[in-house]
Amino acid sequence: MQQTILEIKNLSKSYGETIALANFSLSLKKGEVLGLLGPNGAGKTTLISILSGTLRDFTGSASFKGQDLFSDRRLKNLIGIVPQEMAFYEDLGALENLMFWGGLYDIPKKELKRRALELLAVVELSARAKEPIKKFSGGMKRRLNIAIGLVHQPELLLLDEPTVGIDVQAKVNILDIIRNIGQQGTSVVFTTHQLSEVEQICSRIAIMDKGVVLAEGTLAELIRIVGEKEIVEVSGEFSADAFSAIIRQSDGNGMEILSVTDNQAHLAFADSERIPAMMQHLFKHHLPISDLKIKSPNLEAVFLKMTGRSLRD
Ligand SMILES: Nc1ncnc2c1ncn2[C@@H]1O[C@H](COP(=O)(O)OP(=O)(O)OP(=O)(O)O)[C@@H](O)[C@H]1O
Ligand SMILES: [Mg+2]
Repeated sequence: MQQTILEIKNLSKSYGETIALANFSLSLKKGEVLGLLGPNGAGKTTLISILSGTLRDFTGSASFKGQDLFSDRRLKNLIGIVPQEMAFYEDLGALENLMFWGGLYDIPKKELKRRALELLAVVELSARAKEPIKKFSGGMKRRLNIAIGLVHQPELLLLDEPTVGIDVQAKVNILDIIRNIGQQGTSVVFTTHQLSEVEQICSRIAIMDKGVVLAEGTLAELIRIVGEKEIVEVSGEFSADAFSAIIRQSDGNGMEILSVTDNQAHLAFADSERIPAMMQHLFKHHLPISDLKIKSPNLEAVFLKMTGRSLRD
């Protein structure tokens, strides 16, 4: 059995009246790439900040390789952080930035330079190593950010939304890098809003909202939560209240409401033969529908079922 590398137990954190984490618990095994999926405000950055030691005044515990992460400061050197908000010296080049951030660790200079050059190659920035960061595109900055998180050869890498604000090609590139890091034995936790990203590269997925983990498992395990159902996505110019009111007037037999928001709702049917009658019911009540999609159970359906909301930015 794989060794548990990180065990988070009952982490709670509030900002005044706002509860960001509420008895959050999660464990990670060595070599796993865990995708932590959560909508805006779910508590992802709060979690990463606590684990990286930049946020205080919380309760709960976390052990890393069996030791208390919060009392043994040396353990921090075994963890790499790729924060949501990037911090660089914009006038310096990529290599200089890597040398600076790596210099905060106890690494002999020659070895540090070797690693910095190697990492620039991994994130495909070797050709731009000396150019000031301020000339970099968003995707290039994200890649450099990952290299900085890896410069001290951590055993665990925590990435907070590493693919936000970049184009599709740059995203693919970053996902490849993360997948390779995992394959080389480094454990990875990365947070995201993007369902497709976790589907593509994660060995395990945790869905969180409002500071707690709502479900976790492999993709197949999570999809089983929804079961063998047909998912109907209804879109149109309607309010959540109007949709709910009309749905309440149907017999609803055998149908599960996964989510209802303004302009979109998701329904799950155990028996697909019931779908036409439900659609007729919606049309009969003049619900302004512009689009209808029938889908097989997928991660999106699980997410909707667990959180009641969609992940769109
Ligand atoms: N410095 C702060 N002061 C007050 N409230 C905060 C602060 N930071 C976060 N919060 C609140 O805590 C909750 C969790 O925020 P957090 O940034 O951890 O969420 P997130 O999952 O990272 O969201 P996003 O996807 O938008 O990055 C939110 O309700 C947020 O408004
Ligand atoms: Mg965040």
